[in-house]
Amino acid sequence: MLAARAEEGLYRVQRAHAGVQSVCLQGTEGERWLNFCSNDYLGMAADPQLVEALAEGARHYGVGSGASHLVCGHHECHEQLCAELCDWTGRDRALLFASGWQANLAVIDSFCQAGDWVLQDRLNHASLLDAGRLARTRLHRYPHADVRAAQNWGKEDRRVRMLVSDAVFSMDGDLAPVQELVGLAQSRQALLFLDDAHGLGVLGDQGQGWAAQWSQKDCPLLVLAFGKALGGQGACVLGPAEMMEWMVQMARPYIYTTAMSPAMAFAMQASVRIVRDQHERRLRLRARIAQFREGCRRMALPVMPSETAIQPLMVGDTRQAMALGQGLAEAGIWVSAIRPPTVPRGTARLRVTLSAAHSTEQVAELLAALNLLWPTALRTE
Ligand SMILES: Cc1ncc(COP(=O)(O)O)c(C=O)c1O
Repeated sequence: MLAARAEEGLYRVQRAHAGVQSVCLQGTEGERWLNFCSNDYLGMAADPQLVEALAEGARHYGVGSGASHLVCGHHECHEQLCAELCDWTGRDRALLFASGWQANLAVIDSFCQAGDWVLQDRLNHASLLDAGRLARTRLHRYPHADVRAAQNWGKEDRRVRMLVSDAVFSMDGDLAPVQELVGLAQSRQALLFLDDAHGLGVLGDQGQGWAAQWSQKDCPLLVLAFGKALGGQGACVLGPAEMMEWMVQMARPYIYTTAMSPAMAFAMQASVRIVRDQHERRLRLRARIAQFREGCRRMALPVMPSETAIQPLMVGDTRQAMALGQGLAEAGIWVSAIRPPTVPRGTARLRVTLSAAHSTEQVAELLAALNLLWPTALRTE
């Protein structure tokens, strides 16, 4: 089995690095790479203010939470972080989770029963698709961002319980058609659930993300993850007070797991404030995105349509994507090749991600390396 995966170019390995998480990564044997594959879009993961906040949180409150939220793990740091998040996004109440994966499972499992129909975008993140399966819902995956197809599906005889979409698609970087999804959810009397793991911090005039620009009435269930632009770890579900209270009672991934470290909750409060107030980070990121896209256009590199920090280059063939990733690594640049089953067959790609912490010179270095390695047959003209 393992040999067959290797044969198909699908074998996965972890490559350890040894220094801080930043735009330059240091290997265990002193190697150095420019990092273009992290989700640390605003350069927060090793920001000195955030490092200090985590250390201060740990000094004051210790490291572990000790128990689940409903035993004795619920701390005032959690409550304060939830209040900040509600204020930022205009929601009634928030619940914290140790990861986005758990938050997504909690939402679908709490509001759907076995056999309920759930409509999901074909390109939704694996955690959403897995959540639907684990909650034993019946799943219909509509073509990517095709709200009309979703609208027409089962119109005559299917009651749809929930409509689920990434707000920013994690492997493509494009935006969900939220306004149309709101209309579809209303017309099918379904609950709209958006996962904005990759929009948070990056989009919105205060970094509140893509989905939170719609009201809680339009989008009642929202998941935000802290492991990307906020530079930390964990996630939250936001929504109307009564629905959140239902989750406190029913959500097994909330009830039966150790609460997030209070020190992390303390640090995430600091991160929310920095990300919300330092708009210049978003402006720097936008400038790097524009620089990268313009470079790709000039060199006819097949960059996919995206205005977010996720700027994938389509390759198609899995082995070719792997070879390009390897070539970049040898040139000192770390970009991950994304293969099936993470993306559909025939759409392997290099998932380039940009950060406000990249310099223009670093982006220029990436473009030069891509230009040297990229085969003519894979260019756009
Ligand atoms: C869209 C999306 N949702 C959820 C998750 C899971 O979040 P976490 O890494 O916090 O488990 C990820 C990625 O990891 C993601 O890309």
